[in-house]
Amino acid sequence: MPLAPSPSMGYPEPMTDTLTIRRPDDWHLHLRDGAMLEAVLPETARDFARAIVMPNLVPPVVTGADAIAYRARIMAALPDGMDFTPLMTLYLTEETDADDVAMAAQEGAITAVKLYPAGVTTNSASGVRDFDKVRPVLEKMAEIGLPLCVHGEVTAAEVDIFDREAVFIDKVLDPIRRSTPGLRVVMEHITTSNGVNYVAAGGDDIAGTITTHHLIINRNDILVGGIHPHYYCLPVAKRESHRLALRRAATSGDASFFLGTDSAPHLTHLKEHACGCAGIFSATNTLSCLAEVFEQDAALDKLEAFTSLNGPAFYRLPVNEETVKLTRGAPVTYPEVIDTADGPVTVFDPGFPLHWRVEP
Ligand code: DOR
Ligand code: ZN
Repeated sequence: MPLAPSPSMGYPEPMTDTLTIRRPDDWHLHLRDGAMLEAVLPETARDFARAIVMPNLVPPVVTGADAIAYRARIMAALPDGMDFTPLMTLYLTEETDADDVAMAAQEGAITAVKLYPAGVTTNSASGVRDFDKVRPVLEKMAEIGLPLCVHGEVTAAEVDIFDREAVFIDKVLDPIRRSTPGLRVVMEHITTSNGVNYVAAGGDDIAGTITTHHLIINRNDILVGGIHPHYYCLPVAKRESHRLALRRAATSGDASFFLGTDSAPHLTHLKEHACGCAGIFSATNTLSCLAEVFEQDAALDKLEAFTSLNGPAFYRLPVNEETVKLTRGAPVTYPEVIDTADGPVTVFDPGFPLHWRVEP
């Protein structure tokens, strides 16, 4: 369980008890399909205006036509009265056709393309093994300014799981960027100071998303005092110094960093399993968690940049006109699980009380 912060740990007393920010967007989200989609979509749509929707369904979303069909299923699952715009992505495979990508982008059917190295995580078997095979697609994307969202981990068995992000930057990402000038890249869910430093130094064509949970947990929270499967995700949380680097990046206001929750629902029994699934479901309480984190770091004035301004700027989209109001008070209650027709999904437990409520 993450350590509960207390005034004795040096967190300043809050200066304010209401906060109004532009309505946030989630720049990395898993919505799934069918019964799961129906259950989790309202959890995001309640607080977020838009989300970049991951394409790792089974089978994956690989063509413009797939993306259009998936977007229609999402809109059909959206409860009446909720306003939410899914921003669709294509799953890059070695067979992806550059012209299909360009056409889908031109029609507004997709906002980005997602690169999963093959086998890196949940439903990534159709990902990329030979990066030379996707070169024509990457070149077309650079030409039309379409962002590439990257799951930045190598998969080689001999590379330690805690080193996979740092090795990916050196061995895969940097060579791709050097050989494809102008390619716009979002390094998603960065978990290391290596990722922070690479993005911060990378200029206008690269940004990094950071999840809510990687700002809160480190690898001890997964492994100390018993194994905590609900804190297991990929990329796996790293040591404390990396978590602190992520906190500094997120709360700095630097336009290169913005929120991508990577909220990734799995049924509770498949997380609490001999081979538990990777993914943390945080959609339900993400904004309350983030307000708490930014308050702990005396950076509430930077929350809006992280959740609502930096993402649209990178994606060259307008910021949301609507606002959300958060109020500080007695600890917020939120459900421990979200029920789906197939069983419960456990909600992320930050390990400390949350005082910021999102006003309905
Ligand atoms: O923890 C994760 N879960 N990481 C990913 O990259 C995929 C995701 C999922 O789809 O469950
Ligand atoms: Zn993800």
